[in-house]
Amino acid sequence: MGTYALTGGASGIGASLAKLLREQGDKVINVDLRDADVIADLSSPAGRQAAITGVRALAPEGLDGLVPLAGIPAGGPPGTLITAVNYFGTVEVVEGLRDLLADKQGVIVLLCSNSAPMSSPGGPLLDALLAHDEPLALKIAAENDDGLHYMVGKRALAYWMRRNAMAYAREGIRMNAVAPGPVNTPMTKPLFDNPEMAQIMKHLIDATPLARAGEPEEISRVIRFLLGPDSSYICGSVLYIDGGYDAATRTDLV
Ligand SMILES: NC(=O)c1ccc[n+]([C@@H]2O[C@H](COP(=O)([O-])OP(=O)(O)OC[C@H]3O[C@@H](n4cnc5c(N)ncnc54)[C@H](O)[C@@H]3O)[C@@H](O)[C@H]2O)c1
Repeated sequence: MGTYALTGGASGIGASLAKLLREQGDKVINVDLRDADVIADLSSPAGRQAAITGVRALAPEGLDGLVPLAGIPAGGPPGTLITAVNYFGTVEVVEGLRDLLADKQGVIVLLCSNSAPMSSPGGPLLDALLAHDEPLALKIAAENDDGLHYMVGKRALAYWMRRNAMAYAREGIRMNAVAPGPVNTPMTKPLFDNPEMAQIMKHLIDATPLARAGEPEEISRVIRFLLGPDSSYICGSVLYIDGGYDAATRTDLV
């Protein structure tokens, strides 16, 4: 029985993961805007600090795992909000709980996306994220209306995870990421319901070998595996859980 902190555990993939962990007897501390053990808004530095303080109060013994799932979708919300929550709301919470994870030789699983490779491998927003310069990143995000904020943020998270896997592992913390394709959750429902976006989603699914969207449990079960002892030699990996879309579209990567 372990102690796991999640962000975004009130809905979708996070709610599914919280259920799986609780069913196996683990203690789950959920941080979210609502229906959570710690109510905090991860879009601001003050909200992130409240999240860190709240988790610390509930897990003084340390953490066996941390899964920051809180996220804002592409295709509607402002790019600044997507950038603040998806990137800074993840990295700052991970860094702020790092010592609690080291205390119990814990595991981190980040939520990337199979859409990350659709963004450019370089660029000013990506650079500002990786420099951890939030004011500059938000300025660039506000000025830029290319609609790629979500993908760039997820690419930056994957880079951040791989760049930091060594330092975390040296403290006994194993860190990986999952990169889901479209999953049927409250995040994607508006996309499937909007006729214009539904065409894009159909195009993505037509290009997916398994020819369907995923279900939350198909992601949360893999995260549970990455949190557990059966994945003890997996470190620094981005695991695509996308019905084969990445293999079909970036075939010759190894
Ligand atoms: N659903 C997909 O198709 C898909 C695909 C790839 C990656 N992902 C990633 O998986 C994660 C979970 O996605 P989901 O589909 O379960 O989404 P969801 O919308 O069902 O759940 C997201 C949760 O994040 C919380 N949240 C949003 N903004 C917050 C804030 N400012 N502070 C605190 N909590 C906040 C929401 O309240 C919600 O409970 C996200 O990081 C998402 O980017 C999802």
